[in-house]
Amino acid sequence: MSIVNSLSPRAITAPESGIVEVVNYARGREGLLPLWVGEGDLPTPDFISKAAMDALAAGETFYTWQRGIPELRQALSDYYGRHFGVTLSPEHFYITGSGMQAIQIAVQAMTSPGDEIAYLTPAWPNIAAALEIAGARSVGVELQFEGGKWAVDLDRIEAAITPKTKGLFVNTPSNPTGWTATKQDLAQILEIARKHGLWIMADEIYARYFYAGGRAPSFFDVMEPGDKIFFVNSFSKNWSMTGWRVGWIVGPPETGQVLENLIQYSTSGVAQFMQKGAVAALNHGDDFVAANISKAAEARDILCDALIATNRVETLKPDGALYAFLKIDGITDSRKAAIDIVDKTGVGLAPGAAFGAGGELFLRACFLRDPAQVRTAAERLCDYIMSR
Ligand SMILES: Cc1ncc(COP(=O)(O)O)c(C=O)c1O
Repeated sequence: MSIVNSLSPRAITAPESGIVEVVNYARGREGLLPLWVGEGDLPTPDFISKAAMDALAAGETFYTWQRGIPELRQALSDYYGRHFGVTLSPEHFYITGSGMQAIQIAVQAMTSPGDEIAYLTPAWPNIAAALEIAGARSVGVELQFEGGKWAVDLDRIEAAITPKTKGLFVNTPSNPTGWTATKQDLAQILEIARKHGLWIMADEIYARYFYAGGRAPSFFDVMEPGDKIFFVNSFSKNWSMTGWRVGWIVGPPETGQVLENLIQYSTSGVAQFMQKGAVAALNHGDDFVAANISKAAEARDILCDALIATNRVETLKPDGALYAFLKIDGITDSRKAAIDIVDKTGVGLAPGAAFGAGGELFLRACFLRDPAQVRTAAERLCDYIMSR
């Protein structure tokens, strides 16, 4: 018997990421256009890296505040004032080692083993995996897909709620579908949560990538004091900091000690010099984020216009986030198709099967790249589609 079998069943059964599987298959190929993972093509801008390097050089290498340094929590408070129009004291903010860890901490705070969290699918696979590893159950609620458009069906959410349901996980704008809740959707989802006494975990990490202008509708627009919402967020996508692994939670201040304890017993806090980089991102990064957003908007148009023009791809331009989620005529096995596409075209896509129920027939392309490269990728994909 393999010694692996003596490990925790929860650990053993955690699935391999279906995205990483394709990446591992073709990583490092010459001429590859990697649209498979959710990150841009630019490294972190210098003003952010320099702030971290200066802090490191200045000896900021000691244990630090578990909740995050006061300067960073203040910078987040200012950021939410500027971009979300809300006044939140620094006591609402908790710094985590990535958006992924923000999710883990929120899962630990919200659930006991056996509890259920309902979430909308197709979804970024890590949410379900984080729940299952924690001993909770992830209950997928499929979004509707019609004529290339994704929509939420509130009755399906209601139907998924059982006496064991502890909360709802809502990612808007969504990875991978681009579905973006309207203010009315959010108000109705919040109403369901209130009615059943549930928590909401709001993953609004793509809120700034909203192509109608401004930012996407947010639970901040509809919530009242006393609502039970943890927002999970990250520096990864806005400021090109995916490799830093720094994120944050916005939560009710009265939950602060609980969150601090959970941080203490996982990472014991994020390195102070990295937090100094994050302060620079928030305080001096608005222009950089704006440039990232316009680049994404331009590349989204190039990619989606070209693919829609083939008449063989069912999709609309996504309202938000960084992904085109493509249903290509005749593709029934997205995993095989992702391998075939990378072999024949040199374009790396993520298989929709990795995103759970409702995603099986789709392929996901991240468009936060140099628009010229995205144009080349679109041409190669169109040739592939037309030659099938
Ligand atoms: C919906 C969603 N939430 C959270 C994250 C986590 O981001 P990170 O762990 O890089 O901060 C991602 C990353 O792709 C994501 O797509």
